Amino acid sequence: MSTTRFPFPLPYGWFTVTRLDEVPLDPVSTHRLFGRDLVLWQVDGERRLVDAHCPHLGAHLGVGGRVEGRCLVCPFHEWSYGLDGANVAIPYADKPNRRARLRSYPLAERNGSLLAWYHPDPSVAPIYEVPQLLPTESVLVHRFDRELGTVWQEVAENSVDMAHFVSVHGTAQMASVGQMTVDGPFRTVRSEQTFTSSKGDLPAILTSRSLGAGQGYVTFELFGHTVIAVSSTTPVEDERCLQRFTFHTDGSDVAAKIAPAFAAEVERQFDQDIPIWETKAYLPVPALAPSEKPVTEFRRWAAQFYVEA
Ligand code: FES
Ligand SMILES: [Fe+2]
Repeated sequence: MSTTRFPFPLPYGWFTVTRLDEVPLDPVSTHRLFGRDLVLWQVDGERRLVDAHCPHLGAHLGVGGRVEGRCLVCPFHEWSYGLDGANVAIPYADKPNRRARLRSYPLAERNGSLLAWYHPDPSVAPIYEVPQLLPTESVLVHRFDRELGTVWQEVAENSVDMAHFVSVHGTAQMASVGQMTVDGPFRTVRSEQTFTSSKGDLPAILTSRSLGAGQGYVTFELFGHTVIAVSSTTPVEDERCLQRFTFHTDGSDVAAKIAPAFAAEVERQFDQDIPIWETKAYLPVPALAPSEKPVTEFRRWAAQFYVEA
């Protein structure tokens, strides 16, 4: 019997390294993503995310490494690496070592976060781009993070598992999935929801976009005012991930009034799912009820993000 609860490798895609307002100020910082040690280094407003271990003799560039000029210098024998990852100088040799090159992960700034492209094959350039959807006039109202013992796909599958909203989250009745449209790595689900307020039940529109594996953008619209949840799931290890949620409003007073309730409900439901995610197994051939076809459709969409190394 396999000891792994999830049979797929890490997905490829754009994953959040940090929110933009949480990028470390240090010129060199260490990060654990994609089951590997990485170093983010920055100079003159340029940033690079690279494998942490020096191609010379394997020192960790984030532990005592420093930025000098426009180079990252290894603490062990002071070999220097340029912004393109290539070794540019060895203090005790006439020429750099052309084979010494750091793997560099493409970076992008989108929807308030610093994203890195991961693909098991380092030669594969980004296959898609994450669109910038967050309006510049949006106002940040809440955020929360959770580190989880599960994988991106299990968290994402929650959105099409309508039955659990009743049994786990205690919603009054089972909603339908809504209209789902799939466009390559992007998936949009639009549904009508009821927002419970002191003035009674109000009709709202929920639009949930999956922007590849690991990036989500959800809008909740009520009377033309919008609350936005930017979500991301970053693989940390094979079966560990870091989930981030950031909530914004469109700047209107109405959205500012709805946002706390919306954010609190997302956070409450998220925490209720954790014990199930952290112990469940992925069944490749699940026994589904007739209404659960969307689970199969979701899995067909999700399958595109896995390739063997
Ligand atoms: S291990 Fe980095 S310079 Fe030697
Ligand atoms: Fe849930």
